[in-house]
Amino acid sequence: MCGIVGYAGRRPGKPIILDGLRRLEYRGYDSAGIVLIEDGVLQTTRAVGNLDALYAAAGANGSQATVGLGHTRWATHGRPNHENAHPHDDCSGRVSIVLNGIVENYKELRAELGARGHVFKSETDAEVVAHLIEEHIGDGLTAAVRATLASLDGHYAFCALSADEPGIVVGTRDECPLVVGVGEGEMFFASAIPAFLTHTSTIIALEDGDVVTLRAEGAQICDVAGQPLVREQTVVPWDDDAAEKGGYETFMLKEIHEQPAALRDTLAGRLREDGVVDLSEVGLDDEMLRRLRRIFIVACGTSYHAGLIVSYAIEQLARVPVQIDVASEFRYREPVFGADTLVIGITQSGETADTLAAMRLARAAGSPVLAVTNLMGSQATREADYVLYTRAGLEIGVAATKTHTAQVAALLLLALRLAWARGVMPEAELKRLGHELRAVPEQVEQLLARPSAIEEIARRYHDERFFLYLGRGMGFAVCLEGALKLKEISYIPTEAYAAGEMKHGPIALLDKESPVVVVADDSPVFPKLVSNIEEVRARGADVIAVATDGNEAIGELSRDVLWVPKCDHHLAPILTVIPLQLLAYHIAGMKGLNVDQPRNLAKTVTVE
Ligand code: F6R
Repeated sequence: MCGIVGYAGRRPGKPIILDGLRRLEYRGYDSAGIVLIEDGVLQTTRAVGNLDALYAAAGANGSQATVGLGHTRWATHGRPNHENAHPHDDCSGRVSIVLNGIVENYKELRAELGARGHVFKSETDAEVVAHLIEEHIGDGLTAAVRATLASLDGHYAFCALSADEPGIVVGTRDECPLVVGVGEGEMFFASAIPAFLTHTSTIIALEDGDVVTLRAEGAQICDVAGQPLVREQTVVPWDDDAAEKGGYETFMLKEIHEQPAALRDTLAGRLREDGVVDLSEVGLDDEMLRRLRRIFIVACGTSYHAGLIVSYAIEQLARVPVQIDVASEFRYREPVFGADTLVIGITQSGETADTLAAMRLARAAGSPVLAVTNLMGSQATREADYVLYTRAGLEIGVAATKTHTAQVAALLLLALRLAWARGVMPEAELKRLGHELRAVPEQVEQLLARPSAIEEIARRYHDERFFLYLGRGMGFAVCLEGALKLKEISYIPTEAYAAGEMKHGPIALLDKESPVVVVADDSPVFPKLVSNIEEVRARGADVIAVATDGNEAIGELSRDVLWVPKCDHHLAPILTVIPLQLLAYHIAGMKGLNVDQPRNLAKTVTVE
């Protein structure tokens, strides 16, 4: 979604803000803007397109202003054009704001402000905030922001500047991310930490309703009534390299290759020497796990696919019924909750609006909620009773890769602990699975280091108009993820189907020009897949199989085989998805597309 950067310091702010925006560009990028206080006057530059356009319009240097704001926009209200790009100012041009999120009652506010003589320059919901602040600015910027909050409905984070108070930036949040960075003689606002990681890794996580006044010397925080608040500073364990490509051509490729480390870190300290899973850090005690009657999993996109993969493992290993739904459906379908239902919200960013809403709903109805997230202190952690962190490190490529496999690994740990607590499987078998899971990062490393036919396959098929993905069981869930990866970065239409369903419709799509990707690892459903593959071949379509090392049968059935190391079939989705990530990556690359920033997509979706 949109990205905000604010700076109050002693150095020229323009290059710092532009660089911060560059690091947030992954959040959304159809237009961008910057405002600086130059000699008591607000100087605003906006541009449509990605950040190169803003760099061209603003130039990287040449300003001595030490206070300013920047924004990258991903349009929700109002088309991506120059007028709708942030920052937005008031009638006087003395107040300027950048906003992330939605002001739900903006139409009413716009009408009221219009009746009081305000003139609007954009179609956005955000602009009303600048005009509301203008009405209260006589009391100073901080008080004006506090007064404005009383009029707003919605979920937002915004920052404001006033030309009359050139040393400060004021920011606030309500269910949208905004974090403070604490530097030496300089302070930052950002929607996400990478924006200021070059300058500091000391942060202050804010709570909803906090109103923060930043000066070069520090931050003053108060509540909406003006009562001072104290918020702790923490140091995040990321270094700035995380926001760099480190020799890879793209973030996506770098992140694909970071999967062994992401998996190792996610498993670290959670698997005992004897192979038993220890999740005591999460606070889910065995008694509670034993009492559970049902699990709901809610998530969106790739996180949903991780949930779907592990829903099979939880039912098969722990014998607890699992229902899984995309969060945008779940939240409106009036689900039946209960104290014995664990609701698991999976969201790597911890910010996805629909997932957060579903978690909130569950909690309000009395169900315990577990968040599985990659972001410390994110909103998801506040909406949950328990938090299971993936430790994949910062992911910048819009297409999720390492966070996905880390989610699967973290949730497999949960499946194993559930099975242990409920005593439904022989302990020796669970320990064996624990040992096998510990070996998976090493297997992923080997897989990534192997010579493979993926680039050649990508070259052969990158101009095809359609790809079908087929699998069964967990392999079907992996197909959904592989198909999503390909469509989102190459724009080739794809369909992922449960292989057994193929003859109920999608078989009509098959012809010689439609490659079919089959996830056919060694699992109990492999023999069933063989007949599906025969059906595909009979229609003249080429089969690209993802299969387990040593499976001789598959070579005869497929034009190409992408081999993965042998492991227990419950763990295989961590391996089988990797050739699919790489296939999508190389196809998109051969089409000349920007894989890190696919069109229309944003890394975090903070609106419904
Ligand atoms: C696709 C992708 C998205 C996200 C989805 C949920 O590659 O990244 O489908 O998985 O937007 O995001 P989180 O996990 O942050 O809730």
